[in-house]
Amino acid sequence: APLSGRWPASLKILVVPGSIRGGSRNVRLAATVAAAFAEAGAEATRVSLADFPLPIYDADLEAGSGVPEPAVDLARMIGVHHGVVLVSPEYNSAPPPLLKNAIDWLTRVRGRDEAPGEVLRGRPFALASASNGRFGGARSLMMLRLILAGCRITVIPDQLALSFADDGYDDMDRLRLESDNDMLRAMVARLIDVAGQMRHHD
Ligand code: FNR
Repeated sequence: APLSGRWPASLKILVVPGSIRGGSRNVRLAATVAAAFAEAGAEATRVSLADFPLPIYDADLEAGSGVPEPAVDLARMIGVHHGVVLVSPEYNSAPPPLLKNAIDWLTRVRGRDEAPGEVLRGRPFALASASNGRFGGARSLMMLRLILAGCRITVIPDQLALSFADDGYDDMDRLRLESDNDMLRAMVARLIDVAGQMRHHD
């Protein structure tokens, strides 16, 4: 195409489910979120934290053998994307340890000439959750937002908490409720917007 190279490459969004359970409601929602980004013209990549196995954070372990390779790999994966979506379950009104532990390790990854955790601050994050309960994991998203603020990560205000997730989809695997779709579309549009702004500050 004559104009190729003159347009910026499409925005790349990384979608990270906070569950590795077979049949995970959050893995399912992550697929829906990724499809929505693709529809909006962004390139969505989905990963599984099962492919980045990490021990529970232990400062002695870090002092002895450094940050585990899977954390460095995950940081690299984040580094080649312009935005990140965390799609995570709620355990006892809070984010699950799988996700919190990954975040803690990521804040210890240091790129060349970078402060620790810098890769997390160079791009915006969006949050979603799915649960079969009536709040859809919304309480955990409040806490996750606070955790990420503590890491000085930019988190967009729009989020999606999918209540009664098992009844949440139509035959085409799209979100059944228009109110859920509205939240999804708002989140996608805002993340694309903020990611587009932040990519120019690299
Ligand atoms: C839960 N679950 C749950 N759900 C919820 O809406 N609010 C909650 O506080 C909790 N607490 C909770 C604690 C623990 C220890 C477990 C194991 C589960 C239910 C949970 O959100 C539900 O099983 C999700 O479907 C789990 O996510 P995945 O694996 O389906 O993505």
